[in-house]
Amino acid sequence: MADSFKLNLTHRPRRLRLSPSLRRLTEETVVKPADLIAPLFVVEGKKAPEVIASMPGVFRFSIPDLVKECKALYKLGIPMVALFPKLDAKVKDDLGSASLDSDALILRAVRAIKKAVPYLSVMTDIALDPYTTHGHDGILTAAKNDVDNDRTVSVLVKMAVLHAQSGVDMVAPSDMMDGRVGAIRQALNHAGLDHTAIMAYSAKFASAYYGPFRDAVGTAKVAGKETFSKVTYQLNPANRREALIEVALDEAEGADIIMVKPAGPYLDIIREVREVTQKPVAAYQVSGEYAQIQAAARLGWLDLEKTTHESLVSIKRAGADMILTYFAKQIAPKL
Ligand code: PBG
Repeated sequence: MADSFKLNLTHRPRRLRLSPSLRRLTEETVVKPADLIAPLFVVEGKKAPEVIASMPGVFRFSIPDLVKECKALYKLGIPMVALFPKLDAKVKDDLGSASLDSDALILRAVRAIKKAVPYLSVMTDIALDPYTTHGHDGILTAAKNDVDNDRTVSVLVKMAVLHAQSGVDMVAPSDMMDGRVGAIRQALNHAGLDHTAIMAYSAKFASAYYGPFRDAVGTAKVAGKETFSKVTYQLNPANRREALIEVALDEAEGADIIMVKPAGPYLDIIREVREVTQKPVAAYQVSGEYAQIQAAARLGWLDLEKTTHESLVSIKRAGADMILTYFAKQIAPKL
């Protein structure tokens, strides 16, 4: 009985899945090296690459090693790197003053990369957290129970101009202060830096997935623990409409690229942002998303390469044009 059972179907979607060539032909989303941006950490000195325990396979590089890494990434077809400095505690203060040092680590790193690999695009974070003793992305108010939004923006605009003058292709304000994108655009224009683009961290959520990154840049012990967390500036993970308000504002203020962060747990937001803007959309697969996959793979519970690939396909399918990912170097040769 069961053997002779035959449905007389008009539609059999499986027909197009029956051979590798048909599956390739009907594939809707392809991740390629040119979609990827590699975040990189830089430290002072000439020491060997430093391991980051919660991010296996990711290192903090001295400038010479960073330059080598950038050459390797460029050869793999990756168009851009995103740089993050880890500073010695002695250069940090309450105001994040070292962010305006014209010889700051990050600026020396940018110049070295641009000299050695001029066609690799470079973006830098415009935020104060690596520079402040308290690890917050801004200067604190007198009561020390919030960041002083406008005072913080007054530093960010100077920082963005310094970074642009040192040769970055793109500045990435990542702190979610109000009005920062417009202020940075104006400051860049006034300084004759009209060509420097802005990637706005527009929908950046107050996420627990940033944990390993805070280990990497040394802001873990303070953020979220001492006085207050970052919830007065980063978005509530429960909020969709508020994310869209931020996107609309950043676009109006002159953002060239709109970012959603984290990526994997926020695919719905990526999709919605894709539908409301004509600007390119970036998504940041953050440190915790990386750590999660690495940890499960180390335990033998997930296949590292397949899970990585699927995580990136999902982010792109959701609507991201480009993805910041710590997997960039590992996955690029497999794409
Ligand atoms: C801070 C910044 C953070 C990340 C990028 N820029 C962390 C934070 O907001 O504390 C997170 C990136 C990641 O987790 O990979 N300006």
